[in-house]
Amino acid sequence: MSTADMKIITVIGSGLIGRSWSMVFVSGGYTVKIYDNQPGQAAKAITEIRKQLEELEGAGMLRGELTATQQLALLSSYDDMAKALEGAFFVQECVFEQLEVKQSVFQDIERLVGKDVTLSSSTSCLVPSSVFSKVQNRSRCLVSHPVNPPYYVKLVELVPHPETAATVMDDTHALMTKVGQAPVCLKKEIDGFALNRVQAAIIAESWRLVQDGIISVKDIDLVMSEGLGMRYAFIGPMETMHLNAPEGLQDYMKRYGEGITRVLNSFGPVPDFSGEGAKSIFNEMRELIPSDQQHLSARIQRRDQLLMSLAKLKKEH
Ligand SMILES: NC(=O)c1ccc[n+]([C@@H]2O[C@H](COP(=O)([O-])OP(=O)(O)OC[C@H]3O[C@@H](n4cnc5c(N)ncnc54)[C@H](O)[C@@H]3O)[C@@H](O)[C@H]2O)c1
Repeated sequence: MSTADMKIITVIGSGLIGRSWSMVFVSGGYTVKIYDNQPGQAAKAITEIRKQLEELEGAGMLRGELTATQQLALLSSYDDMAKALEGAFFVQECVFEQLEVKQSVFQDIERLVGKDVTLSSSTSCLVPSSVFSKVQNRSRCLVSHPVNPPYYVKLVELVPHPETAATVMDDTHALMTKVGQAPVCLKKEIDGFALNRVQAAIIAESWRLVQDGIISVKDIDLVMSEGLGMRYAFIGPMETMHLNAPEGLQDYMKRYGEGITRVLNSFGPVPDFSGEGAKSIFNEMRELIPSDQQHLSARIQRRDQLLMSLAKLKKEH
């Protein structure tokens, strides 16, 4: 496929993530064809995207060089998968997180596209060797795992199937960079990929500290939002250590490695997230933020507004 032909991306599934990917791809000037197996759903997604793009333009936060009207003109919706896939060089699957559903969707897609079309899955929790096990030509398959909301949180984890061609990883990395995302490549697949493994470690220790009566729910969240998180929005744990000793990372480990090892050895087994001990944590959280739709929506809106400001700040530096 020549570069001149590489203009159309098909998004399969028009829920939260399908809509976000569509917005990201049109912001980069790609034509995006959205398909959903629920009739009318893909068209509804475009109505929702229109609203969001217009709001983003109004707030001066629209991504890319094109206006909201120009980006909307690149979008079309389909209830027919074959028509949606016509002309695509890249397919981003965003259907339910159910293995059988994804496997069957990829079988259907493979029947309808040429061998050189890249097949990419948004899965958060399924490894590529499972997702693509029923695809014949797996060298063009990979996971491109976004972070919610992808419009502001730009990380995309690119995870290969054991048979994925290096060029597919490179080309997808280039595509993601071109549309303004921040891709990272895993060298091989692993359960949880990188982001969710790091996140699980943070969740486990935070949970344990609250459950063991060391700290409150409110205060452990402050440890992150007013402490670690302040740095981590700009530099990762490796650079943080490198900058925190006069002679860099090796010096840091000479000074603090023993202490870190001691603390790590004091970590217990995986905490119980559902038993009696969990109940008091659930209650403590609900006292801070009630679990009803109104309170949760208000906090989600606040989170997204703050993420928008942070994305703006990161863009300027
Ligand atoms: N929501 C998140 O925070 C998040 C973050 C990263 C990755 N993901 C992953 O993205 C994927 C989509 O998640 P979501 O939150 O957008 O889900 P969602 O439930 O909001 O949307 C799924 C959409 O897929 C459609 N669909 C279901 N089966 C289909 C089929 N066979 N063919 C075509 N369309 C079909 C549904 O009608 C629905 O519109 C999942 O794999 C999820 O794990 C989600």
